[in-house]
Amino acid sequence: MRVLNFGSLNIDYVYHVEHILSPGETLSSKQMEVFPGGKGMNQSIALARAGVEVYHAGMIGEDDGQFLLDTCSENRVNTHLIRTVKGKSGHAVIQVDETARNSILLYGGGNRRITKEYVDEVLGYFDEGDLLVLQNEVNMVDYIIDAAYEKGMRIILNPSPFDKELERCDFSKVSLFLVNEIEGRLLAGTGYETEEDGEKLIEGIMKKYKEAGVALTMGEKGAFFAGGDQWYYQKCFPVDAVDTTAAGDTFTGYFVAGLLKGGRMETIMEMAAKAAAIAVSRKGAAPSIPRMEEVMLFGDSK
Ligand code: RIB
Repeated sequence: MRVLNFGSLNIDYVYHVEHILSPGETLSSKQMEVFPGGKGMNQSIALARAGVEVYHAGMIGEDDGQFLLDTCSENRVNTHLIRTVKGKSGHAVIQVDETARNSILLYGGGNRRITKEYVDEVLGYFDEGDLLVLQNEVNMVDYIIDAAYEKGMRIILNPSPFDKELERCDFSKVSLFLVNEIEGRLLAGTGYETEEDGEKLIEGIMKKYKEAGVALTMGEKGAFFAGGDQWYYQKCFPVDAVDTTAAGDTFTGYFVAGLLKGGRMETIMEMAAKAAAIAVSRKGAAPSIPRMEEVMLFGDSK
C-alpha cells in the first residue's frame, strides 16, 4: 500500500508581533523569518519523520520553488510527482504573537494551479487500497476526492482551511477526518456554533458521516478519536509554547503514520500528541516537526 499526499507547498513569512493585528491597525514586527511550510508539505514531512514513505503531489513556482523541493528531498519525501509552474509558489504571511498563537494569510500561487490532467496523471501511479491524504489549500479538492474514490483509494481529509470550496466535495467518500474545533463545528453543521465539548462535537460529525472516523484536536484541551463504536481521549502534553504553527499538521502526520504501522490507538494518540507538543515548542512550520527518535525520548511526565 502506498501513501500519496496531494497538497500545498508554501514559503512561510513569519512576523513575530506583540499581538495579532486588528483591522486598521499598523504595528512594527519584532522579527521576520522565512520557513518552508504549507499544510500539505508539513504533513508529508511529519509522515516522513514518523517513518512513512510518502509521495507528495503539488505545484511549486519556478521563481522560488526550489527551496520547497529541497526541503522535501532532505526529509525523504518522494518528490517525483511535484511539478513546477511559471510564477511564484504559494506563500503564507504568518503573525505569531507573544503567547505563540498565530494568524495566517495565504497566497495560493502554484497551489492553485492544479489541473484535471495533472490529478489524473498523479492518481495513475496509485491503485485500489492506496492511501490519499488531503487538505484544502490546493484547488480541485472535489475532483481529487472523486477520482481517488473511483480508484478505490482510502481518503483522509484535513478540511483546512474550511471554506466555501469544500461545499463541492462529497464528504461521504472520506474515511477519516482530522479537524480542529473550528473545522469540527463547521463539519458537524448547524447547532455547534458555540463552545461544544469534544465528545458532543464528534457525535455531531459522526451523525452526519456515519462511516468515517474522526480525530479532533483541541489544543491545550487535548484530542479525541472516534471510529465505529470506539472512543479515545488524549491529554495534551504541556510545553513552553513558542509557535503553534504546524502543530495540527504534525499531529496529522504522526496519527496517520501510527494508523499505518498498526498498534493500539492509545499509543497512536499519545505519539501524535507528543509530536505536536514538540512542534509547538519550536519556531516555524516544517522545521518544527520532530523526528520519531525525538518523540520517543519525550518524557511521559511532561
Ligand atoms: O498549518 C500551518 C501551515 O498553514 C503553514 O505552514 C502555512 O503555510 C499554512 O499553510
